[in-house]
Amino acid sequence: MTSINDINFKGKKVLIRVDFNVPLDKNKQITDDSRIVESLPTIKKLIADGGKVIMMAHFGRPKQGGFEEDYSLKPIVGYVEKMLGKKVAFTQKLLFDNEVLDMINSLQDGDVMLLENIRFYPQETKGDVDFAEKIAALGDCYINDAFAASHRNHVSTCTLAHFFPNHRYFGYLMEHEVTNLQRLMRNAGRPFTSVIGGAKISSKINILESLIDKSDNILIGGGMVFTFLKAQQKTIGSSLCEDDCIEEAKRIMEKAKAKNVSLLLPVDVVIADRFANDANRKTVSADDIPSDWMGMDIGEKTSALYQDVIMKSQTILWNGPMGVFEMDNFATGTKNVALAVADATDKGAFSTIGGGDSVAAIHLFNLGERVSYVSTGGGAMLEYIEQGTLPGIDAILK
Ligand code: 3PG
Repeated sequence: MTSINDINFKGKKVLIRVDFNVPLDKNKQITDDSRIVESLPTIKKLIADGGKVIMMAHFGRPKQGGFEEDYSLKPIVGYVEKMLGKKVAFTQKLLFDNEVLDMINSLQDGDVMLLENIRFYPQETKGDVDFAEKIAALGDCYINDAFAASHRNHVSTCTLAHFFPNHRYFGYLMEHEVTNLQRLMRNAGRPFTSVIGGAKISSKINILESLIDKSDNILIGGGMVFTFLKAQQKTIGSSLCEDDCIEEAKRIMEKAKAKNVSLLLPVDVVIADRFANDANRKTVSADDIPSDWMGMDIGEKTSALYQDVIMKSQTILWNGPMGVFEMDNFATGTKNVALAVADATDKGAFSTIGGGDSVAAIHLFNLGERVSYVSTGGGAMLEYIEQGTLPGIDAILK
């Protein structure tokens, strides 16, 4: 496998897939720039070589029937320019418009451009081969540096690579992610603790299944807790619950038991009488949630229990918050877990964090520097852990 370190891209038109799908606030300001920051080393290397850099990215999930202002990459451009200290050519015109083709043709060595949201084309998500061939004709080589989108079998993450059998590469971000996740999966020190939170069990069933095969402990937090508690016949008041996942929750608990994996659920929870930061709140036993109250965070006893397990671990994987951490009054459980992960890392554990909310939480508590590795991928990281590879990785390697 050739690294981009071994190539000089001078004069080459480089089609590079990046993931600039970053969260924006209501004023279209970027609230977490990690994906952009992590993409910079590859882009800077291409610029330094004198490559003609053509960046492809998606933003959100547009209807795919053409241009939609809400999903334009325009709000990202200025930020990328600031980070690169360099002009990034951009137009809201779509890929094969003459204006775009002229921009590509007039790129000088070391110039950079960003194509408008590749998902405005329905062919992108269908992996359309003719569409890929047309894009491939615009470049001399292809780099995938969009780890966070590489679980998608799309044109820009997969199909395009097939048109460059001798000129397709991973970018540095991608190399870095794969190296770290391989360490997590292949050389994990024991005990291995997975901390899995988030609202919905339905989106985490596959990963929970596969983590039972890899972990010694699984600590459950977030809204999905209540589906598990209901599966144990507990009353959960008006807490979030996916009734159609109760059987799955039972099966997961049984599988963990059969495999001798300690799957822990909260013993106490912080509850509120409505979904608001200033709601009335109290901490109760997880056996004792009154009707009309809803679970919003793990309680103090649970935090202490989880912290103890985390501190004794050599490998920690964390995905998903423990409660509604965006609201100050329900952020304590997530903060306690984040602190424990940081403290365990200080003591020598290898810790990996992935998924938009847990990454946002670790940055909110200023602990990003105290964990071993923060992945840029949410779904992609989980799928890599499940499958050991991703379509976008295979497309480069095979
Ligand atoms: C993400 O934000 O997880 C990636 O950019 C992939 O986005 P998608 O889930 O819309 O494919």
